[in-house]
Amino acid sequence: MLERIGITNFKAFACQDVDLAAFTLLTGLNSSGKSTVLQSLALLRQSHEAGLLDEADESGGFLLNGELVRLGTGQDVRHESYTEEDPDITLAVVKDEIRYAWRARYGREDDLLGLLEAPSGPTSWATRDLPSLFGHGFQYLKADRIVPDVSYPRSHDAAVRRSFLGARGEHTVNFLRAHQDDTITAKSLQLPEMPSTSLREATDYWMQRLCPGVNIETVGIHGTDTVRLSYGFGSGVSASNRYRPTNVGFGLTYALPIVVACVAAQPGSLILLENPEAHLHPQGQTWLAYLAVAAVSAGAQIVLETHSDHVLNGLRLAVKDGRIPASATAVHFFRRNGQTAEVISPSMGPDGMLSDWPKGFFDEWENSLEQLLD
Ligand SMILES: Nc1ncnc2c1ncn2[C@@H]1O[C@H](COP(=O)(O)OP(=O)(O)O)[C@@H](O)[C@H]1O
Ligand SMILES: [Mg+2]
Repeated sequence: MLERIGITNFKAFACQDVDLAAFTLLTGLNSSGKSTVLQSLALLRQSHEAGLLDEADESGGFLLNGELVRLGTGQDVRHESYTEEDPDITLAVVKDEIRYAWRARYGREDDLLGLLEAPSGPTSWATRDLPSLFGHGFQYLKADRIVPDVSYPRSHDAAVRRSFLGARGEHTVNFLRAHQDDTITAKSLQLPEMPSTSLREATDYWMQRLCPGVNIETVGIHGTDTVRLSYGFGSGVSASNRYRPTNVGFGLTYALPIVVACVAAQPGSLILLENPEAHLHPQGQTWLAYLAVAAVSAGAQIVLETHSDHVLNGLRLAVKDGRIPASATAVHFFRRNGQTAEVISPSMGPDGMLSDWPKGFFDEWENSLEQLLD
């Protein structure tokens, strides 16, 4: 598990450490630095996958544009208020109290920022226990995801070989098609009413927490490189026709990659989720938090950016109910302070209560109510 991410001169941050737990919830005002945290992790992963984090020379570096993130060039990503004493971009992660850091040279027009020095910490990746960031089961789902469509792409490399759902969830449907009979072994992901423990059943049953009675089918379209997704409702004699995604609720398809990422979680997976609550009704948002907690109990680490008080409260309730220890959670509230972002981190007690409730932190309900009652 990653214990911390350190960010220097990258996008919203001059210099910021963010502690990570098994379940980390990032929240705060718009444009306050939440996605920057996820992007810094995704950038490291993307650079590592391209084999660029091992060598401190022109052949290694931060690959700014790739499968996970497309960040532009040096001038887009270097923090505007850098100082002359420290003009470079450094990203670091801490695992088992070992700090792995990569410092890259700024180049205004460069989209590969070369590493300045050998990565600190153990560098022999082949023999070391890799930080989970670089291991199997990594998922990064951005706020901008797949929408209902007639068909979805079929990539053996992403969906089958790497079990990667795509940063927009674009490989989710093909992943489900290829892996639907895989067994879900983690008890936390098995709902009581599930008749079997296949990925397909588990996906259906968790989706039913968002939309009662729904079930999902995925089939390859013969002679093409695409797969089709359809939804049905009910079962047996009361089963509905199959509907195409464009003819059912938008939120179902929008939430599908998030649900699949959590249901398919493995011990050691790192799952980064941006606004998983988008287009879901309030109770569905709470269930999404329960699902993410179940994925954490299955051994995954989740870092989640959200504006949803239902997701926060779902996590708090899961702590109170003993489904996840308070010590396995971290809540960070981001706000801007001049040119840079600052982070306030209330701690959670075993009763789900938070130590601190800073102004602007999920207080709008109360603010509005006060004015209504005035
Ligand atoms: N190179 C940069 N230097 C300073 N600030 C930046 C830079 N790039 C982006 N930002 C700031 O980062 C903020 C966006 O951060 P982001 O993490 O996307 O926000 P959110 O909290 O909404 O996810 C914007 O306010 C923008 O001003
Ligand atoms: Mg964001």
